[in-house]
Amino acid sequence: RPARFTLHPDFTVGDVDPRLFGSFVEHLGRCVYTGIHEPGHPTADESGLRGDVLGLVRELGVTTVRYPGGNFVSGYKWEDSVGPVDERPRRLDLAWRSTESNRFGLSEYVAFLRKLGPQAEPMMAVNLGTRGVAEALELQEYANHPSGTALSDLRAAHGDKEPFGIKLWCLGNEMDGPWQTGHKTAEEYGRVAAETARAMRQIDPSVQLVACGSSSQAMDTFGSWEATVLAEAYDLVDYVSLHAYYEELDGDRDSFLASAVDMESFIENVIATCDHVGARLKSKKRINLSFDEWNVWYLSKSSAQVAALNWPEAPRLLEDNYTVTDAVVFGSLMIALLRHADRVTVACLAQLVNVIAPIMTEPGGPAWRQTTFFPFAQASRHGRGQVLDVRVDAPTYETAKYGEVPLLHATAVRADDGTVTVFAVNRDRSAPLPLEVTLSGLEVESVIEHSALADSDPEARNTLEEPERVTPHAATGTTLRDGVLHATLEPMSWNMIRLA
Ligand code: AHR
Repeated sequence: RPARFTLHPDFTVGDVDPRLFGSFVEHLGRCVYTGIHEPGHPTADESGLRGDVLGLVRELGVTTVRYPGGNFVSGYKWEDSVGPVDERPRRLDLAWRSTESNRFGLSEYVAFLRKLGPQAEPMMAVNLGTRGVAEALELQEYANHPSGTALSDLRAAHGDKEPFGIKLWCLGNEMDGPWQTGHKTAEEYGRVAAETARAMRQIDPSVQLVACGSSSQAMDTFGSWEATVLAEAYDLVDYVSLHAYYEELDGDRDSFLASAVDMESFIENVIATCDHVGARLKSKKRINLSFDEWNVWYLSKSSAQVAALNWPEAPRLLEDNYTVTDAVVFGSLMIALLRHADRVTVACLAQLVNVIAPIMTEPGGPAWRQTTFFPFAQASRHGRGQVLDVRVDAPTYETAKYGEVPLLHATAVRADDGTVTVFAVNRDRSAPLPLEVTLSGLEVESVIEHSALADSDPEARNTLEEPERVTPHAATGTTLRDGVLHATLEPMSWNMIRLA
């Protein structure tokens, strides 16, 4: 039987915040060095930014860019990363057992965003691992204060007369994780997050602040961590963060394809926790969610890689090469975010270049798109507007991890001009899935395009040697007649169907 749902403009989830299409640049492996920054590369500009990468990042449609970590931020000394490049100190980066040259720093990050264009917005993390309130305030003053103070004048002396205007700040990173430098209990972190937030608001009451939630739903402290932190910081922060990574384990591809089941339950559980604290505090304020690290990541393979490092500079680390299967799961994670666009108003794909990334580079050589590039680019380009409520009625399949799961995962977005875009994943590994969508009250009459990402080889991937092995193709046979959309979703596929 076909998978079905009905769309109606009166039944909506909420507006998509452009920040949902954020990404993440961490000082980790080759994300920065030989990723976005490579002086001497044939496409590099005067500040060493790779032009080929800038072009691909623009095509990807990235908005907010979180920086400088990640685990890296918990040892970050922001003052090492500013001023004359040749005078910047080299430091041990404990998080990734690497040496940080600081040749790329705060000013270069802002230059990178400015080069990307007006849609690019900074999201800066402060170090609440080895540092605290004072250093966060110093960084804020250096970055944002116009002039006339020691640190704002220092910024100008370093060549950045204009303030950076950073509005969105992360209060540390994954402070619940024992691996984090300066890891804290929920009580300890809740206090320091609240006091940092209070002080940062003294400089600028309009800053937008993200408190660390759990590093994953699987953490022992999940739920109680968020509740304890928010009990301290509810009135002082705007967002709580979520991080989640998925990988295929023990050859269980069926469960892997259903990863978004976990992601959606994670989101719903965090919303419930935030609202529970809000209710306890009798607050009218609503805390939104910043899903500021999400992706497919073969994490189980990379821990040993990091442990074996002996303080190299910009090593090849976490350079997962994504298959078409990974891209279908990735697309489904995008769908999960869009389906919760009313509360998930910031999200960052971790990460942007080389490190578990949609864009890969070769030092001195080309840059290319991984399979995961395409679902993100399509969603960012066409997933802007109002998310419509999608209640799927679909055949199901059995998974070891999540029980019975619908074969179809889908969402739909209505743009301001009335066009409707359906994003859909068929989780069936071997059979096509017929799709029937009843369009009620929507002024759409025809199919603009049905683009699909699927391959007869589930392991197909793009590489340096074959950078365009996997790209989206036009699917055939999709029709819209008498208010009903009919399509066939190829086995294990990501789909974008645009209607006007
Ligand atoms: O994105 C890679 C790492 O994953 C980040 O540094 C950390 O925050 C998370 O554990």
